Amino acid sequence: MIKTAIIGASGYTGLELLRILALHDKAIVTAVTSRQYAGKQVTEIFPSLIGHYDEMTFIEPSEIRDVDAELFLCCLPHGTSMEAVPILLKAGKKVIDLSADYRIKDVATYEKWYQAHSSKDLIAEAAYGLPEVFGRETIKNADLIANPGCYPTGATLALAPLVKAELIKNSSIIIDAKSGVSGAGRTANIATSFMEIAEGFNAYKVGEHRHTPEINQSLGLLAGAEVSVTFTPHLLPIKRGILSTVYADLKDTGSHTTASLLEVFRQNYADEPFINICEEGVLPNINEVAGTNNCSIGLKLDSATGRVVVISVIDNLVKGASGAAIQNMNIIYGLCETTGLISVPL
Ligand SMILES: NC(=O)c1ccc[n+]([C@@H]2O[C@H](COP(=O)([O-])OP(=O)(O)OC[C@H]3O[C@@H](n4cnc5c(N)ncnc54)[C@H](OP(=O)(O)O)[C@@H]3O)[C@@H](O)[C@H]2O)c1
Repeated sequence: MIKTAIIGASGYTGLELLRILALHDKAIVTAVTSRQYAGKQVTEIFPSLIGHYDEMTFIEPSEIRDVDAELFLCCLPHGTSMEAVPILLKAGKKVIDLSADYRIKDVATYEKWYQAHSSKDLIAEAAYGLPEVFGRETIKNADLIANPGCYPTGATLALAPLVKAELIKNSSIIIDAKSGVSGAGRTANIATSFMEIAEGFNAYKVGEHRHTPEINQSLGLLAGAEVSVTFTPHLLPIKRGILSTVYADLKDTGSHTTASLLEVFRQNYADEPFINICEEGVLPNINEVAGTNNCSIGLKLDSATGRVVVISVIDNLVKGASGAAIQNMNIIYGLCETTGLISVPL
């Protein structure tokens, strides 16, 4: 059994990890941290977990050094993660970090979009954990995994086959993405409270969302050149899920059809257990991936404009965070990648 500990287990991604690991037959959770709930039983705070973690209590983050675990799943806010991760690595532990702290390879870019970095030296050794796009080898051999952001996961999966095959003008990419409210985390905030969100729908952080440099980095690596996308996030009045609508101009408008573009995606993701490419004429719905580690992708060639429109859906808490973390854990430990992750939508 792989012994795991969850740091920041009282938040949404931590809860999701507890939910997934409750049914994982090759890994167990030995410790969970929370400052606000330290000393309280996990099932008192999360009654949905009754029957799975009945004996477990939250501990203070400072107690994490004494925990019997080999893999630490770090669900802390960015900035806090970079303080915890070096200590764990120094103690010989493996870490999957769900924050943004080790995702951006260029330190100046990270510091421009986030904050000063206190463990810059570790950024280079972190493997970016999006196996469907960047392969498994670096993940398998890394002690530190930078788990991708939720919006970058949906957007990159929707664009990678087109960028890799050099079918689109990269300067034309527009990503119009809509996320459920859990993407903002569990901490109380007026802007994401029920009364502010319910029955409304708004764009936010237009041209300045922190996931922009992460998307640019991934697409740039695939293109072998700098890519700069237009990324507009929106807040959907639902609990979980991201739908990304991606627009891009085809380089050669005359030689494609919707069917031929779908075929590019099918071939690109042929061996991927979590990616579903929709049939022609079918577009994905967030409902069909809720609670799963799946990403469903549909597309249409807009022949009037020569633009391809790709729609991807993921659950931000699963493929966009905790499910991806467990997929990465399975890769690190040589397990079947789907272990603990096969589920039907909620
Ligand atoms: N939500 C998503 O869809 C999503 C998707 C991908 C990635 N992520 C990233 O994953 C990380 C966790 O996200 P989340 O949505 O689970 O956030 P969250 O709901 O706000 O939970 C944050 C967790 O960190 C703990 N924490 C906060 N500040 C801390 C500190 N200074 N020291 C120790 N513990 C601290 C909190 O517990 P206490 O306050 O009780 O200590 C809580 O358990 C973030 O970096 C986020 O950007 C989130």
